[in-house]
Amino acid sequence: MNQEELIGRAIEARSKAYAPYSNFKVGAAVVAENGEVFIGCNVESASYGLTVCAERVAIWKAVSEGATRFTEIAVVADTEELTPPCGVCRQIIWEFCGDIPVTLANLKGRSETIQMRELLPRAFDTKFLK
Ligand code: THU
Repeated sequence: MNQEELIGRAIEARSKAYAPYSNFKVGAAVVAENGEVFIGCNVESASYGLTVCAERVAIWKAVSEGATRFTEIAVVADTEELTPPCGVCRQIIWEFCGDIPVTLANLKGRSETIQMRELLPRAFDTKFLK
């Protein structure tokens, strides 16, 4: 799947966002090592702190279907400045994906790809637990 198609899948996911409190809709698409694509949108709650970001929904869906390693992820929001993953999502992306390319895109056709090590330098991970 090329990058444009992956962004398309993230836009598709964004259309399902449940964001009645923030009205900030986000979509994500992750590619598993076997090429399968999993998509997710943000899901909010009236108890605001229970909100789950699009990136984690996509990854949770994938993990629950048996995919645990990924080669790339795309994140789409309707912002002029491209929306990056929040801090919590960076940690989770690192957990399951490591130093993969992260493509940020908006609805106007702008996109940029950044490596995870730039988004989460000196990450804490399983290697410290050994
Ligand atoms: N959000 C995401 O889904 N992903 C991001 O990368 C940034 C923030 C969601 C969480 C919440 O539903 C809304 O955007 C506003 O913070």
